[in-house]
Amino acid sequence: MAEQLPATVFLVGAGPGDPELLTLRAARLIAQADVVVHDGLVSAEILAMASPEAELISVAKQRSRHSMPQEGINALLVQLALAGRSVVRLKGGDPFVFGRGGEEMEACRKAGVPVEIVPGISAAIGCAAQAQLPLTHRDAASAVTFVAGQCKGLTDQDWSGLAGHGRTLVIYMGVATATDIADKLIADGVSPAIPVAVMENGTRANMRTLRTLLADLGDMVVREQVKSPALIVVGDVAAYALAQDVLAGFAAQMNNGAEMHS
Ligand SMILES: C[S@@+](CC[C@H](N)C(=O)[O-])C[C@H]1O[C@@H](n2cnc3c(N)ncnc32)[C@H](O)[C@@H]1O
Repeated sequence: MAEQLPATVFLVGAGPGDPELLTLRAARLIAQADVVVHDGLVSAEILAMASPEAELISVAKQRSRHSMPQEGINALLVQLALAGRSVVRLKGGDPFVFGRGGEEMEACRKAGVPVEIVPGISAAIGCAAQAQLPLTHRDAASAVTFVAGQCKGLTDQDWSGLAGHGRTLVIYMGVATATDIADKLIADGVSPAIPVAVMENGTRANMRTLRTLLADLGDMVVREQVKSPALIVVGDVAAYALAQDVLAGFAAQMNNGAEMHS
């Protein structure tokens, strides 16, 4: 009997939420897949694009159980592909930006399973576009950096020089550690008066864009009950965003700040 050839695993970026931000390739692969293995940030409208015959497997964190460990997800992808089923591994944003796509790719390669990567619009790009916040601007920023702000390892990360005048720092997964992040940046010499934008549920119908100054970031996240998924953008470019200014006298304070850090 002919040996079953492994099917391809497609690591597909689903973008930040709005289905219109999917690539044409992602939409086609989702519609054709035998199995869609997805995480929690993928919106219901996008999952609805799968074939009615397709199996949908969630590996998201749920209230009643922890998320599947990464090794379990890797093994599942390999096992499905070895059984000859075409697999779309659907991830929020882009698979290679804080998405563990690299680990899943390696697991497939090791098992001799063909793997292809389909890029998606990462949260930073999608949120910035929706809020009209240019991540670079000739008058305001000539560099942009993406960092992960979750608790684990935050204090070990060296962010010095990544934020400040003329630079944009985009922080993923930073809601729970917003106060520590602000303290860390200010201790590194970033002006407490630099503008900060926080974009919650970016590109979705319930998106919120809030703006304040770095010194107020931690308090603001608590005051406004900001919830994940949210992105924090630190830098002069935040001043361009279509945002709700949540600090009393924001404009006056920002002008003082501009003098302070110019
Ligand atoms: C595990 S990371 C995945 C990032 C994803 N691979 C990407 O490229 O956007 C999850 C974090 O991405 C950010 N994020 C994802 N989708 C978002 C959205 N629609 N609005 C705001 N932030 C989002 C949040 O910081 C969230 O905690």
